Amino acid sequence: MRRAVCPGSFDPVTHGHLDIIERAARLFDEVVVAVGVNASKNRLFGPDERIAMLERACGHLDNVRVDGFSGLLTAFCVDHDVAAIIKGLRAAGDFDYELQMAQMNSRLAAGVETVFLPTSPEHSFLASSLVKEVAGLGGDVSALVPGFVHELLTERLAARPEPR
Ligand code: PNS
Repeated sequence: MRRAVCPGSFDPVTHGHLDIIERAARLFDEVVVAVGVNASKNRLFGPDERIAMLERACGHLDNVRVDGFSGLLTAFCVDHDVAAIIKGLRAAGDFDYELQMAQMNSRLAAGVETVFLPTSPEHSFLASSLVKEVAGLGGDVSALVPGFVHELLTERLAARPEPR
C-alpha cells in the first residue's frame, strides 16, 4: 500500500488543488488530503469548514480521504505511514520555497519523499489567496472553484465587515 499526502491550507479549495489531488490518486493507492495551518496566511474559513469542503469536493475519489493536522507535516506523515508528500508546482516562483521545504522535510523524516507535480497549464495562475482577493473585490471566480465552494465564498465575503 503506497500512501501519499496532499497537504495545504485549502482556504478555499480550488480546481487547481483538485487537479493535483486527482492526479495523485491515480499514482498512489491511497491519498490523504491533509488540511493544515499556514502560520503566514490569514484564513477565511476555519479548519472544520475547509475539511468539510474537501470531503465534498473529493467525494467522487474512492481512494482519497481528508484529515486535519496541526504541527509538523512530517509528524503527520510518520503517524499515518505516508511514503510521499505531493506538491503542485505552478511556476518557477514556487520552486525555491517548495525545494527548501522538501529538503527540510527530508531532514526531519528521511523516509518521506516529496514528489512535485507540474500544475496543469490552465491552473498555473490559480491560488486561493488570489481567488479570495478577486472575489472580495467583486470579480468573477466562479470557474475557478467548485460551485458549492463559490456559494460558500460569496456568503462568507458578504458577511465580512466592510474595511475602513
Ligand atoms: O496551501 P499552503 O498554505 O501552501 O500549505 C502550506 C502547508 C500547510 C502545507 C505548510 O505550511 C506546512 O507543511 N505546514 C505544516 C508545518 C510544517 O511542517 N512546517 C515545516 C515545513 S518545512
